Amino acid sequence: MNQNENLMDKIVSLCKRRGFVFPGSEIYGGLANSWDYGPLGAELKNNIKQLWWQRFVHRRGDMVGIDAALIMNPKVWEASGHLKNFSDPLVECKKCHNRYRADKMPAVCENCQGKDFTMAKQFNLMFKTFIGPAEEQTNIAYFRPETAQAMFVQFKNVLDTSRKTIPFGIAQMGKAFRNEITPGNFIFRTREFEQMEIEYFIPVPKEDGDWQKYFENWRIEMLQWMKEIGLSLDHVHELEVSDKERAHYSKRTIDFEYDFPFGKDELYGLAYRTNFDLSNHQKASGQNLEYTDPQTNEKYIPHVIEPTWGVDRSVLAVLCESYREDADRVYLSLPAKLAPYKVAVFPLLANKPQLVEKARSIYQDLQKHFMVAWDDRGNVGKRYYSQDEIGTPFCITVDFDTLENGTVTVRDRDTKDQPRVKIEELVNYLNKKINY
Ligand code: GAP
Repeated sequence: MNQNENLMDKIVSLCKRRGFVFPGSEIYGGLANSWDYGPLGAELKNNIKQLWWQRFVHRRGDMVGIDAALIMNPKVWEASGHLKNFSDPLVECKKCHNRYRADKMPAVCENCQGKDFTMAKQFNLMFKTFIGPAEEQTNIAYFRPETAQAMFVQFKNVLDTSRKTIPFGIAQMGKAFRNEITPGNFIFRTREFEQMEIEYFIPVPKEDGDWQKYFENWRIEMLQWMKEIGLSLDHVHELEVSDKERAHYSKRTIDFEYDFPFGKDELYGLAYRTNFDLSNHQKASGQNLEYTDPQTNEKYIPHVIEPTWGVDRSVLAVLCESYREDADRVYLSLPAKLAPYKVAVFPLLANKPQLVEKARSIYQDLQKHFMVAWDDRGNVGKRYYSQDEIGTPFCITVDFDTLENGTVTVRDRDTKDQPRVKIEELVNYLNKKINY
């Protein structure tokens, strides 16, 4: 086993051991490739989503957010082309009938070592369900395979109520479902996952450079986001997706690939969707989805640049990037703003009531500002080890000097430095460090 595969195993094991990610339905023997976020994983994932929303919705005047239903009218998927085109090529081992995605298949069957496969046939990835009690053709519906479509379908309502002018964007984050042929690599490829997407509406390009300017802006925005969540850009690679490989709606796509332990693979994407979706929805619904330029009164169907982020792949990349081992410890060097707990508070000795009382009062005060852990088990060294492993950036110890001079030690996870800080300055001190 090479070192990188080993790293993946270590991350999966740490996630289970410390409550980041558990195998789904585990007490019933699990459900293949389904994963549940535990207490710390839910915090990490939420911190990523909140940071994204703040950065791309709250801090920009040209963005608004929506939160749409997972199941939409099936006509949406007809018009968007998903029912016809959203498929992967599937091959089957002729001996044991194991199935593979043709573009990712091994040379020999992983199950029976057979070398004889069927010809590739297209397999639609849409997740089907029925609305209401009767399982009839007319009641078929689909779980959305991308969050994007609601932003197109609600374009007119958003426009009319928000009074945004082009260029502007609609953002959404939430679950998407795909009946993947070969899910795998932990939370990298699953059948149920979360996306954070933006549809950025731009004027009809008069010449090529017009849309490329917006595309380039979003490319830079995406790279800056990756830096903000602590990814080294040395581990990120941009792939210009070829005409043949591009999704049916896209005129240009860049995949941002990340060096995961199992190899380089897609983390995020950026696509120029032209006016493909809005035009198709206008045609299929019979509703006018045009925009009227308030200055010129020109009417047109806007074009769209779509940056898209996978939430679960963000979690995985952040974990891979921050996993560290040194001589005496394992630690997650998470950016402080993403860490599940920002700070932990310990009394030096659990059997000294004065220390415990003081530590408790600091813990309760800090809880008004941060997510705080409490630990009074074992010795301080073990508590540091335990917090390091879950990426807590700061540990506060209340010792006998605290009772004398009102200061505590604040131990830094990465440097192990332990400056003394006055209790009344703790909130400011930590705020500065966390939101650097
Ligand atoms: N609206 C465009 C769209 O959905 P995509 O490249 O198919 O584009 C966007 O998906 C992102 O969603 C990917 O870059 C990836 O981060 C994430 N993603 C896609 N399929 C996934 C899966 N099966 N499991 C986990 N994440 C997935």
